[in-house]
Amino acid sequence: MKKFAGKVAVVTGSSGIGLGAALHFAREGAKVFICGIDEDINKKAIKAGAGMNIKVSKVDVSDPAQVEAWIGSIALEDTGIDILVNAAAIQTYGDTETTDINHWNRVISTNLNSCFLTSHFAYPLMKARGGGSIVHVSSVQGHSNQHNVLAYATSKGAIHALVRAQAVDAAKDNIRVNSISPGSIRTPLLEYAAQVVVGEGNPIEDTIAEFGKCHPIGRVGTIEETSALIDFLCSETSGFCSGSDFKIDGALLAYIGV
Ligand SMILES: NC(=O)c1ccc[n+]([C@@H]2O[C@H](COP(=O)([O-])OP(=O)(O)OC[C@H]3O[C@@H](n4cnc5c(N)ncnc54)[C@H](O)[C@@H]3O)[C@@H](O)[C@H]2O)c1
Repeated sequence: MKKFAGKVAVVTGSSGIGLGAALHFAREGAKVFICGIDEDINKKAIKAGAGMNIKVSKVDVSDPAQVEAWIGSIALEDTGIDILVNAAAIQTYGDTETTDINHWNRVISTNLNSCFLTSHFAYPLMKARGGGSIVHVSSVQGHSNQHNVLAYATSKGAIHALVRAQAVDAAKDNIRVNSISPGSIRTPLLEYAAQVVVGEGNPIEDTIAEFGKCHPIGRVGTIEETSALIDFLCSETSGFCSGSDFKIDGALLAYIGV
């Protein structure tokens, strides 16, 4: 019997880590609902999930009405939700002086409010299943950050507080809540970050290798490694894990580079 047979998994972010987790859950027998804001990215996700039990929807996770309608449409198809993974996010650059309020609101609503909104609307459906697991994808930058990532780092740090607050309250309903904090993982977002470093049109491979060298393990992580951690947090094996953040960072945050 497959590990997630009979389970219903809801995932935000239809590329990179979100798509990797969605494909993993589907391969392991779950019925999966995934969403993303970008039509072209969603089309690629539909292609990647062809033949599997995955439904891809266009949703802006920063918009409460769209999140409510999406989760509502899932409620019409199924009796509940067992797994919720929030991986949708944007990475932007700016400091206190250069980040304006529109930039700030866009990042906070996409990266942080979305984690609350999906949880809020999915919660009754998780209770209906007798419990479940929520995993929010944070970042090492929620612990310790580079220059010029004010809004992003704030959104990711706040996820750690959200996890604690949710986990304490949700324990009575047998719902566990955790986050993961990846270091550099090879995804479209990381490739975008590398492109920002080298400039438009220039090759990014050397920069990605440099990112990798910043991690004591000496390389960037993979989507498969990240899916394995999400798998653990969404399975019975992690039944006593709730209210925590799990780093998957090749020892990046353990290291003081002096
Ligand atoms: N890749 C890394 O190195 C890394 C490191 C630390 C944390 N993370 C986190 O991992 C998560 C997944 O990122 P990824 O690396 O897979 O990047 P990604 O860009 O492939 O995935 C993010 C997805 O979110 C979608 N998205 C953005 N705004 C949205 C919105 N308003 N509504 C719906 N979808 C929206 C994007 O279209 C994209 O498909 C993010 O939370 C990111 O912050 C990634």
